[in-house]
Amino acid sequence: MIKHDGAALEARDLRAGYGERPVLRDLHLRVQAGEIYALLGGNGAGKSTTMNAFLGMLPPRSGSVRVCGIDVAADPRAARLKLAYVPENVVLYEHLSAQENLRYFLGLIDPRSADRATIERALTAAGLDPASWGRRLAGYSKGMRQKVAIALALARSVPVLLLDEPNTGLDPRATGDLNRLLLNLRGEGKAVFMVTHDLLSAAQVADRIGFLSEGRIVEELAAAGPGRFDIDGLYRRYAGWSTQQ
Ligand SMILES: Nc1ncnc2c1ncn2[C@@H]1O[C@H](COP(=O)(O)OP(=O)(O)OP(=O)(O)O)[C@@H](O)[C@H]1O
Ligand SMILES: [Mg+2]
Repeated sequence: MIKHDGAALEARDLRAGYGERPVLRDLHLRVQAGEIYALLGGNGAGKSTTMNAFLGMLPPRSGSVRVCGIDVAADPRAARLKLAYVPENVVLYEHLSAQENLRYFLGLIDPRSADRATIERALTAAGLDPASWGRRLAGYSKGMRQKVAIALALARSVPVLLLDEPNTGLDPRATGDLNRLLLNLRGEGKAVFMVTHDLLSAAQVADRIGFLSEGRIVEELAAAGPGRFDIDGLYRRYAGWSTQQ
């Protein structure tokens, strides 16, 4: 195990992009274990690209990216084993049930992790009604699908969760369920890094909120208390950030 200074995720002086095109420019970002970090920013600011860098899909042009102290460029596989990623557009099998989807996808990673108890624990933690576990996803709502994707991430019991716009399209109740779940995960000491356009959810759950513009963090705010932001102040700041673009 490589020793590290406690940051679950760290980007330092990171420059990265696609082909010749720079997207991230001197990005500095740290997320600790037991912390929820919400990354805000306009469309095209580089939020998903930041996730790709942590996932090892985007080699740094300069600077470094670390996951639990592991240099992603040096050992992408070891870094990837510390992460669970819930993408913006979740791809699951429609003709399989929630249990079958989990068994299949977990089996691809590690057949030993695809046991019934692990799957049931993860589906319970994700808040999916047990009455739906055996039903095909074709009949699921968006919120139910999201819970299956999150259960898949939870079943891997990794220390870091990356969520790209996890509450887009969720109704207020499903959003509330998700927010409670994220707070539970934080209580278990996981690091949660989420990209969102939902300022209210970010304010309710995040310990820190960063605003990304043109590939760098232009402002970072810390919660005044556990999970608390001054929402009016946050909206005013948000308006200020947006007009800077
Ligand atoms: N695979 C790719 N190849 C080339 N350019 C890309 C690729 N993915 C993203 N980009 C470009 O990189 C920039 C940042 O995109 P990114 O997807 O990171 O933005 P985002 O902040 O996640 O936006 P959104 O809020 O729309 O999801 C954009 O200009 C986009 O066109
Ligand atoms: Mg995106």
